Amino acid sequence: MQALSGGLACTLPGWAVAANGLWMPDEDLPLTPTQTEGPFYPETAIEQQLFNDTDLSQKIAGHEFAKGQLVVVKGIVTDQRGKPLAGSVVEVWQACASGRYHHSRDESNPLLLDNNFQFWGRAITGEDGKYSFKTIIPGKYPGRMGRHIHYRIDSPQHQRLVTQCYFSEYGEDNSKDGIYRQLDAKQREQVTVQLDKPSDQAQPWSGSFHIVMGKAS
Ligand SMILES: [Fe+2]
Repeated sequence: MQALSGGLACTLPGWAVAANGLWMPDEDLPLTPTQTEGPFYPETAIEQQLFNDTDLSQKIAGHEFAKGQLVVVKGIVTDQRGKPLAGSVVEVWQACASGRYHHSRDESNPLLLDNNFQFWGRAITGEDGKYSFKTIIPGKYPGRMGRHIHYRIDSPQHQRLVTQCYFSEYGEDNSKDGIYRQLDAKQREQVTVQLDKPSDQAQPWSGSFHIVMGKAS
């Protein structure tokens, strides 16, 4: 069985080096909790969008950047034994920095739509199970205090997972968010990205979101 690279495994509690020298979890990893898909999944499938790559901060390289704090969210998709799941389709969608979605159901939202932002993206994991998105910290919006990125993941032989991730920087807002509050303490920890903020303000913030998938029944 493949195992996570030491660097990432070291950041996860409950991992140890097995006799073969590979990092393995002591016991089954807890599944990433399911959270509501919400009303703003893109109206046209992300796969069919004109701009749908893993850099949401610009529609096209060299184009103007979207407003907001740049952040790189990367991670790995695994099963409960920590095995990387190759061929996983990882889709994300989120609000722009002002707090508005590019969706007809959000047209009554008076907040400004950032036309330089690519509101969704799609990645397919390789053999190492890893994915990475460059984006901006989403804005808050009416009804959601927690800044969040929506995820939908499909892995071969596993159940589709729909969830959301949040950011450690905004703990007070997260604690006021109704969806976040439905999670228990352990689950909140699982879906909260711990941010690394470089002193060079031109560099993006970064953090990881490990996704653990359950087998299809
Ligand atoms: Fe949302």
